[in-house]
Amino acid sequence: MYTTNKKKLFISIIAIIFSSLTCIAYAERVDDLIDAQKEVKKNTQSKKEKLSTQKRELAETRDAITMGKKEYERTCSLCHGIDAKGNGVYAFELTIAPPDLTLIEKKNYGVFPFSNLYKIIDGREEVHSHGARDMPVWGDRFNSESWLDTNQRNSETLARGRIFELLLYLETIQK
Ligand code: HEC
Repeated sequence: MYTTNKKKLFISIIAIIFSSLTCIAYAERVDDLIDAQKEVKKNTQSKKEKLSTQKRELAETRDAITMGKKEYERTCSLCHGIDAKGNGVYAFELTIAPPDLTLIEKKNYGVFPFSNLYKIIDGREEVHSHGARDMPVWGDRFNSESWLDTNQRNSETLARGRIFELLLYLETIQK
């Protein structure tokens, strides 16, 4: 009788130890699963954030191109023409014919010379080594017009922004 009880006790203790071990192992597995789930959630969230940043950037670029197009039509088309091919209403009054702005990339071996064009349009820095400049200096003009902005932003930043938008637009109309 005594030995059977001892045996039973022994078996129960073994059983308790075994089930506790199983429980611990299971709990660890559940923890791992929860961690993995959290990781997946974090990754999807950062992917979503990245995607929405890309979308916003794309929308901003589109916006800038639209602004550039409006600026072009208002400021440049009189000489360079609405289609930018150099036949604006003032073109015939100029000693130098306004060039076709849709061929810039082609003339430059397939590369749109962003920073060089920036300097040409800004005009405050001499780019052509010879000849009189028939085109107005837009850097000065845009800078002096900046008082129109009610947000009191830096006038130089605004002038740069207008030229930058013009360039983004010009890039889209290259042949
Ligand atoms: C008063 C007429 C006139 C207006 C307005 C004008 N341009 Fe010009 N543009 C010219 C002429 C003329 C040239 C030829 C180069 C020169 O004057 O030295 C030229 C040259 C250029 C060039 C150089 C192209 C090349 O192939 O080298 C660019 C770029 C340009 N203009 C962009 C613009 C932009 C952008 C605007 C509007 C902000 C503008 N122009 C407004 C007359 C004008």
